Amino acid sequence: MPPETITIATRPDWLPTLMWAWLALALPVAVSLCFINAPYGRHNPGTWRPMIPARTGWLVMESPAVLVPAGVFIWARGWESPVLLVFFLIWQMHYVHRAWIYPFRLARTSSPMPMLLMLMGLMYNLINGSLQGAWLFVHPVVSSADWLGDWRFVTGAVVFGIGFVINMDSCNRLLRLRREKPGGYSVPHGGLFRWVSCPNYLGEIVEWIGWALLTWSPAGLAFAVWTTANLTPRARAHHHWYHDRFPDYPAKRKALVPGIF
Ligand SMILES: NC(=O)c1ccc[n+]([C@@H]2O[C@H](COP(=O)([O-])OP(=O)(O)OC[C@H]3O[C@@H](n4cnc5c(N)ncnc54)[C@H](OP(=O)(O)O)[C@@H]3O)[C@@H](O)[C@H]2O)c1
Repeated sequence: MPPETITIATRPDWLPTLMWAWLALALPVAVSLCFINAPYGRHNPGTWRPMIPARTGWLVMESPAVLVPAGVFIWARGWESPVLLVFFLIWQMHYVHRAWIYPFRLARTSSPMPMLLMLMGLMYNLINGSLQGAWLFVHPVVSSADWLGDWRFVTGAVVFGIGFVINMDSCNRLLRLRREKPGGYSVPHGGLFRWVSCPNYLGEIVEWIGWALLTWSPAGLAFAVWTTANLTPRARAHHHWYHDRFPDYPAKRKALVPGIF
């Protein structure tokens, strides 16, 4: 039986327009990021002052991604629908870690972050968190529990889970490397680093593609496109940086997608 869909008559006209405009904005951002590396981590030239500790930066800029959807979910009484509750839990599984656990796992020697970059990340998470919350919890298109048995939800959940495991495993390996060599960079090995330079970014992109599928929403699609637009040029920049820095860097390793790119 196809999942029951509920079209909410009160969905404001401007919301889809805003959503598609937001999605379209990812394209010029991706093009710009091919020429300018976001100035944090190894690509921080040190000239964008003032700087703040990486831990503070990640904590502050990612917190709206937890708090805004949580506020909207509570306001919309999202827990009354099992499918919205599942969406909420999947979202928070990622973002509670990213905003409130990951920053404290970063080594104190992690490169500082420009305040401006933190503010840009904060703004991004306010907008993205609001759009996800508005589209998924205030004006839901799917809210019947039947959706949880639909192939799009099941496939998306599996894809999200695979991306989550890849992202966590790769982050763990990088954080371990940094602890072993405080303040310096080494060549990462193991896991998907066998094939690509940035499996953490690959995992992140796979996660949000899964999210787009499992929510079957323009909001989910927009986030997957933004993440890809953001992380693909950065993976390429990391990859070139590794080759420049380490002459014996594994030649067959690709930047982001095994065997392809
Ligand atoms: N959804 C999105 O649009 C989005 C955007 C950005 C990031 N993210 C996610 O946020 C997380 C962090 O991103 P990121 O850009 O900071 O990742 P990253 O550049 O790979 O760095 C992650 C951490 O590992 C350290 N590190 C990286 N490579 C290392 C090496 N070879 N040797 C020793 N230490 C190393 C970094 O130190 P330094 O900081 O000192 O370099 C940093 O503390 C990732 O999971 C990413 O997917 C998501």
